[in-house]
Amino acid sequence: MKSVVILASGNGSNFEAIVRKIRSNNWPIEVRALITDNPGAYVLIRAQRLKIPYEVLDFKSFPNKVAYNTMLFERLKANTPDLIILAGYMRILPDFIVEHFRNKIINIHPALLPAFPGVRAIERAYEAGCKVTGITIHYVDERVDSGPIIEQVCTKVRKGESLESLEKRIHRLEHKFYPLVIKKLLLGD
Ligand code: GRF
Repeated sequence: MKSVVILASGNGSNFEAIVRKIRSNNWPIEVRALITDNPGAYVLIRAQRLKIPYEVLDFKSFPNKVAYNTMLFERLKANTPDLIILAGYMRILPDFIVEHFRNKIINIHPALLPAFPGVRAIERAYEAGCKVTGITIHYVDERVDSGPIIEQVCTKVRKGESLESLEKRIHRLEHKFYPLVIKKLLLGD
């Protein structure tokens, strides 16, 4: 049995897609914990509904970033994950966490990196008039939306397509491919 910890700060649709895919396929992967920095995140409702243990490290309750990240580091180590999965985690991991878990932390980004790193990537690709965009799953390194690319899936932006439609399709790609990449990394093909 392999184990993972998922970090998320917001909606949590990727978190839910991962949990559901693992369960429906009976993959020997245990989602040991969801950790969030945001006590108001909808992902917590999903975790409760799916009966996944969760830990809230309310960023605002810590005196500073170092104190928060020190606690996060402790909680990550305590869960002894084979893989740490970022799924809409909105904070930058400090170097000491990246270093300790080198090549054991992955992230998903809703654009074809290295294009459009950072926030609002789908919108920015759309506004730039990209004919092709997509998703990137990559190892996390010390920089933002950087690190070795594991998988990319691209899609054409349709003629006259609305941003909402593109967003929907990008998220569908994320929900389909993130679980598959996780499975491949942990269990092989
Ligand atoms: C996804 O689009 C992901 O690529 C990005 O943050 C978003 C998280 O969405 N890193 P959700 O919280 O999983 O619904």
